[in-house]
Amino acid sequence: MRIKRIDHLGIAVADLAAAKRLYEDVLGLKLTHEEVVQDQGVRTLFYPIGEVKLELLESITPDGAIAKYLEKRGPGIQHLAIEVEDIDEAIAELKSKGVKMIDEHPRRGVENTRIAFVHPKDTHGVLLELVELPRRM
Ligand code: CO
Repeated sequence: MRIKRIDHLGIAVADLAAAKRLYEDVLGLKLTHEEVVQDQGVRTLFYPIGEVKLELLESITPDGAIAKYLEKRGPGIQHLAIEVEDIDEAIAELKSKGVKMIDEHPRRGVENTRIAFVHPKDTHGVLLELVELPRRM
């Protein structure tokens, strides 16, 4: 498996308006992409810092992963996303090495990425997201 870089940090927010004030007005970051991911029950907002992005995650359903995370742990860094060259290969390799996956098969992430989450039980409490960026022609 070839890990290329850190793609983004996922940050669960309880109060999106307040979080926007912090990241946009106080820190002066620029919102470059916003997308609702229905099957995840989240609204995502992206703020690049150099090569790495912050992904703010607001729950839009009371029973989604982010809602549950906020209930249990409160707002904060929820996952770390690393870019891999080939996500199918990365999943197969992790599984062959006995690492438990939340997603055994890649699913569609924002901006036509393919993503898969590794189970936090096998990553020492860090929820790890694998990301494969769309191939550029
Ligand atoms: Co993410």
